[in-house]
Amino acid sequence: MQLCKAELKQICGDYNITIRDLLLLLQHILNTSYSKLFFSDLTHLSDMQYSTLICYVNRRSNNEPISKIIGYKYFYKNKFCTNKYTLDPRPETELIVELFTKYFINKNDNLKILDLGCGTGCIGLSILLLYKNAKLHLSDISHNVLLVAEHNAKSLDLINRCKLIESNWFEKIYDTYDAIVSNPPYICSNYNLDKEVLYDPPEALFAGEDGMNAYNIILPNASEYLKNNGKLFIEIGYDQSEKIQQIHSDLEVIEIAKDLNNINRVVLFNKK
Ligand SMILES: C[S@@+](CC[C@H](N)C(=O)[O-])C[C@H]1O[C@@H](n2cnc3c(N)ncnc32)[C@H](O)[C@@H]1O
Repeated sequence: MQLCKAELKQICGDYNITIRDLLLLLQHILNTSYSKLFFSDLTHLSDMQYSTLICYVNRRSNNEPISKIIGYKYFYKNKFCTNKYTLDPRPETELIVELFTKYFINKNDNLKILDLGCGTGCIGLSILLLYKNAKLHLSDISHNVLLVAEHNAKSLDLINRCKLIESNWFEKIYDTYDAIVSNPPYICSNYNLDKEVLYDPPEALFAGEDGMNAYNIILPNASEYLKNNGKLFIEIGYDQSEKIQQIHSDLEVIEIAKDLNNINRVVLFNKK
């Protein structure tokens, strides 16, 4: 079958979704480019592709994020599979990768890195792509999450430099690292989230009444798992830069980096 622009817009109206979202879904179904679809007067679909489109549009109309529907999202220019067990990679988290490159100048260093609460592995694997001699430990409390991280490490041809560790924070971590990168859960348990975010797993989002539970474990213990002069790069919520500095830790804060919205987003600690 073929659908003209008016028919595509009709589907959007029927399901109350934007034309942009519909084209993003079609782009995936037809394995084509967004601009090609945008500028075409007619879109050709098999019956199967049309059924898939309607199924996807229906899911989108229930606020399910596009990334959860199509099963992947781009982070730092690379494709990461995501599913119901993993947090969809967020653009603001790319700041950790940026900051990392500022402090580890030599791309050939034999770095040993831990991605703590790795989710899809987007932070650690993006760094590993830049540092050809580095090794990465990806840890998470969830076995299902680690399966996704493993899949992504294989797709990016990085699995030979990775080790997956199922661990409740540092419980099963026995090494010391040049750097620990982490985007732990940091949302207050009573926070009213957008409907889309509720498709992410609660374990990836919530961290107790004040959102500080994960930091209260990670900060006092991180020093033990860092080499001298080792660094902890940790993402924070919009109002947590003061609170995180009040947690007891042997580490010193050396930078607080702002995201594109001018919000304090990543705190960098150094082991003296
Ligand atoms: C906010 S998500 C971040 C995922 C990924 N690093 C990213 O930036 O997209 C937090 C991750 O921490 C994991 N997590 C939650 N509690 C944990 C715990 N007690 N120990 C280890 N990992 C935990 C979750 O399963 C989730 O994958």
